[in-house]
Order: sequence, then C-alpha cells, then structure tokens
Amino acid sequence: MSGLFITLEGPEGAGKSTNRDYLAARLREQGLDVVLTREPGGTPLAEKVRELLLAPSDEVMAADTELLLVFAARAQHLAEVIRPALARGAVVLCDRFTDATYAYQGGGRGLSVERIAALEQFVQGDLRPDLTLVFDLPVEVGLARAAARGRLDRFEQEGQAFFEAVRQAYLQRAHGAPQRYSLLDAAQPLEAVQRAIDALLPAIVGRCRG
Ligand code: TMP
Repeated sequence: MSGLFITLEGPEGAGKSTNRDYLAARLREQGLDVVLTREPGGTPLAEKVRELLLAPSDEVMAADTELLLVFAARAQHLAEVIRPALARGAVVLCDRFTDATYAYQGGGRGLSVERIAALEQFVQGDLRPDLTLVFDLPVEVGLARAAARGRLDRFEQEGQAFFEAVRQAYLQRAHGAPQRYSLLDAAQPLEAVQRAIDALLPAIVGRCRG
C-alpha cells in the first residue's frame, strides 16, 4: 500500500496553516489516516535544524549552508515521518517541502536549479509530492500579514525583491507542471479559498481509495 503525499506552498502570510488544518479536517471526515507535518521540521532533530534556519543572527548564513541545512532536516523528516506514513497508506499533508527550496534558495537566494535538483535526487530518490497546493498572493499583502503577526524570522526579514523572486519561482513551477500543482488565489476571502479546496476533495479522496 502506498499513501498520498500532498504539500502546501506559498509565501508568508498566505493562510497556509489555516488551510492546511482545514484540508486535514475534511480528509479525516472521510475516514482517511492523515499525518500533518511541516518543513523545515517535523521531527525533534529536524525542528532543531529549523531553529538554526529561522533564528536571526549576526553571522550571515552562507546560501550553501542554508541549502544543506534544509536538505539535512528533510532527510531526517523523510526517514522518520514521511516514508513510514506513506508506506502504511496514510495521506501525508506537509506544510512546505522541496518546492520551497526551489522558491527560497533557488529564486530568493539565486542558487542554481541544477544544484537543488542534485540534492533533491540524493535525499529523496524518486519520491516527489503527488499534489502540491500553491497559495499565491501579491508580495505586499503577504509581507503586511506577516509583519502584523509580530517578530520576524530570518526569512521574513528579507525584502520585497527576495519575495518577488520567491513568488515567481513558485508560479513558474506551478505553470510548468499543471498536473501536479493546484494554484490557489490566497488573496480571496478565506471562504472562497476553502471552497476551492473543497473542489479538490473528490479527486484527492478518489486517489486515496483508488
Ligand atoms: P513557515 O513554515 O513558518 O512558513 O516558515 C518556514 C520558512 O522556511 C519560510 O520562510 C520558508 C523557509 N524555507 C526555505 O527557505 N526552504 C525550504 O526548503 C523550506 C521547507 C522552508
């Protein structure tokens, strides 16, 4: 038996967590075994790596260090949580995964796609998400929402140009493989976003039962 691997992506302030919890609740209503997790993080060790990645620091983190830390956390998360859950047939709902690496380390930091792809293959083998929901939002809206939440982490302290590049990288990936990605307009009212998620449910449930 093999489960279903769903990831959620988008900038800060796009309502990802709220919508992740909503989707998890709807899938559980259908009697599905849902594992809710996030990156960077998802295991005690990977959460420690997350702290290193997000904590503002006087020492500038080299882009390659950032990339390797992201994949180090991912290797642990895959081994401890994601692969075992998929092997028992669960739906894994993961808040961010390797698309975030292409968007933040690739788009934002300017690291090459080839370098990221090499690490992706090394750490994941052939495992890729079955479905990725991309919550798209104009950069200024996302940044204003993130700022309203209080203290900014190391990524949230980046400027407009960084987040424009992040957004474009997500859009490019979503447009490049429309069969794997669902692009959702996160600037709409929450109810409208959730109606769009509802519209995806029959196909998701069908794939789990099929
Ligand atoms: P969040 O989970 O609270 O949205 O924050 C995680 C931050 O980590 C977010 O700013 C994006 C960043 N990130 C990367 O830069 N690369 C990655 O591969 C992942 C998973 C997250």
